[in-house]
Order: sequence, then structure tokens, then C-alpha cells
Amino acid sequence: PPLSEILNLHDFEAIARQVMTKNAWAYYSSAADDEITNRENHAAYHRIWFRPRVMRDVTTVDFSTHILGHPTKMPIYITAAALGKLGHPDGELNLTKAAAKHGVIQMIPTLASCAFDEMVDAAVPGQVQFYQLYVNKDRNITKKLVQHAEARGIKGLFITVDAPQLGRREKDMRMKFTDDEPHAQKGDAGVDRSQGAARAISTFIDPGLSWKDLDWFRSITRMPLILKGVQCWEDALEAYDRGLAGVVLSNHGGRQLDFARSGIEVLVEVTRELKARRGLSFPNEKFQLFVDGGVRRATDVIKAVALGATAVGIGRPFLYAFSSYGYEGVDHALNILHEEFTMNMRLIGARNLGEIVPEMVDASNIGSH
Ligand code: FNR
Repeated sequence: PPLSEILNLHDFEAIARQVMTKNAWAYYSSAADDEITNRENHAAYHRIWFRPRVMRDVTTVDFSTHILGHPTKMPIYITAAALGKLGHPDGELNLTKAAAKHGVIQMIPTLASCAFDEMVDAAVPGQVQFYQLYVNKDRNITKKLVQHAEARGIKGLFITVDAPQLGRREKDMRMKFTDDEPHAQKGDAGVDRSQGAARAISTFIDPGLSWKDLDWFRSITRMPLILKGVQCWEDALEAYDRGLAGVVLSNHGGRQLDFARSGIEVLVEVTRELKARRGLSFPNEKFQLFVDGGVRRATDVIKAVALGATAVGIGRPFLYAFSSYGYEGVDHALNILHEEFTMNMRLIGARNLGEIVPEMVDASNIGSH
């Protein structure tokens, strides 16, 4: 169908399921075990309701903000996802281009199909990009990646901490990642392809990563450090106490531990406990909270912002968008979000993100804040 018939982010998934190769669909859509967390990620937003304000002159609304000090036109970013070329020959470059046009930030994955430098070279002057890091058992490789990223102007290092071992994604495993994919990354020789794409590419990840490694990261880079994949207030507090710039409350799109809670549910306990224990209020510039997983509507994002998130990461919808329509698909997805923000900010009575306060949501069904 023409893009004009794509009315929301869910629509891209339905199209992608039909047009993508079986392997690519299996890799992008799969989640761990029984995929309960994957479903819960979106469902959790259904338990939060709005308490809108009226009579506020919402003629103009502005939903721009800053992430780690860098401007973004919406409180979202394009999160990291591996193997972009499985879905489209231009892979992650579709995201780089669309991010530039819409003034949003792209998080470049360690396991991108495109070369890192290609994605940085494709950015327009001033375009901000972050880097998602899988920590290699060989720290020299990690050091090179990190220092190269910093040298190329990357503004934030998101260290993935929820994947000491790749989750069991059975849809993907059944596909037996093979070389007959037209756009698939060939990968290094010697990888085990019998376990699906995810496992084939992830054997280098170090399960030995621990809190004490953070000092080492500090010694090799001045980029702000953010942990991606924190899932309870105790770890968020530890990250804060250790001086990190923030955490992403995420379960990796339900692809790691099944029965992990949704990021939005974790957000509620994190803001509550960090307020009680350290007197912090959110959103907070010094220690920023991000959420990802299951975000499909601007109303989802607005709920996360109301509950203290600085911004929200979106993954699969953009993958499905470029797999179905290339760059134009991602462009359209971002246009849809922009229109949804304008309308829903008006309807809840907020002219800017600062006016989206906790009182504008009833989150009592997912925890007390
Ligand atoms: C991911 N995600 C991910 N995260 C990460 O830190 N490194 C990675 O290489 C990948 N790769 C990846 C591939 C695919 C196909 C998906 C769907 C996801 C997780 C991603 O950053 C994010 O946490 C989730 O995608 C958010 O959930 P939604 O928006 O996809 O529901």
C-alpha cells in the first residue's frame, strides 16, 4: 500500500510482516522465550491513563528538548538495533538520513550492518549521534571502538548491560541464519550460524562485565556513560552513585530475560526511590532516565515524560518502516509521531514538555509514584 495509507506506527509492522524475508522478519520481530515481556512492553502503557488539563491556550505547542545536553525536536531517539541490512540494502543509513531531517538523535549500534564511519560520514554537520556498545572480551577491541567513536564526534556511550548472553529467540533460531539472504551481513568466518542471526553475531560479548569496569571506561573516554538495560531501582541508584550520566530502563525489546518488567513500570519505582534516597527530581539534567520497549504512539512517550523520562527510545517501528519503504518509511514514521505529539499535547493541555507533569497521568495501576 502507498505510504499515505500508513496511519500509525503499528501499520508498519503489519506491512513488514508481509514484505520482509522470513529470516529478516524472524530476527527483527523475535523476542525471548514465550515473548511475554515483548507483549507486556506495549501493554504496560495501556494501564496508564491521562488526567488532561483544559483552557490553556494550546495554539502552539513545542515538544523539543535536550538529551545529554543536545537538542532534539521530539523527546524520542532512534535506538540501536543490529543488522539493518537484513531489512533493506541501505540498512542503518536510512535512519541516519531520517534522523537528520527530523532533528532527532540516532544511536549507532556496535553490530550495525553499515560501517560505523559510513553512518558518521552520512550525518549532516551538527547532527548528533550516540553509540551503543557491546563490550568485547578483548578490551583492546572495545577501547579502539570507543576511542574511535569519540574521535568521530559521538556524544554519548550507551553500554548495553542486559545481554551477558543473548536471550533465547526461538523464532530466530528456527531460521538457522544462512548466507542466502540478499542483504545479510556476511559476518566473520567461524561464527556459529546454526542458532539464528542473533547468536551468530554475539559470541564476543563479555559476560564478565561488572561495575568495577566503569573506572576503566572513564580512563579511556570523556564521553558521557549511560547504562542501557537497567531494570530495577537498585541498579539505577548504583549508576547514579557512580556518577554516570544516566540509564536506559529497558529489557532490550523483550529479547533478553522473559518476564522482565516493562521499562515504563521500572521508571515509576526508579523515580520514587531516587527521590526518597537521594532527593532527586525528574526529568533531571545531571542524571537522565530513558525508557524503551513497546513505544508506538506519542501518547506512550508523553506518559513516560510525565513520569520523569528525559526521552524514549524507539526500535522496531523504524526497522519495519525502512524494511517496507526504505528512507521514506522512516521519514513517514517520524512525521506521524510529530503529528501525534502536536495533537496529544493540545489534548492534555501541555504547551511544552515542562508542562507534562506527573499529575497528568494516573499510573496507579503500575505502581505508586
Ligand atoms: C535490538 N536491540 C538492541 N539493543 C542493543 O543494545 N544492541 C543491539 O545490537 C540491539 N539489537 C537489536 C536488534 C533488533 C532487531 C531489535 C528489535 C532490538 C534492542 C533495542 O535497542 C531496544 O531496546 C528495543 O528495540 C526497544 O523495543 P522496541 O521499540 O523495539 O519495542
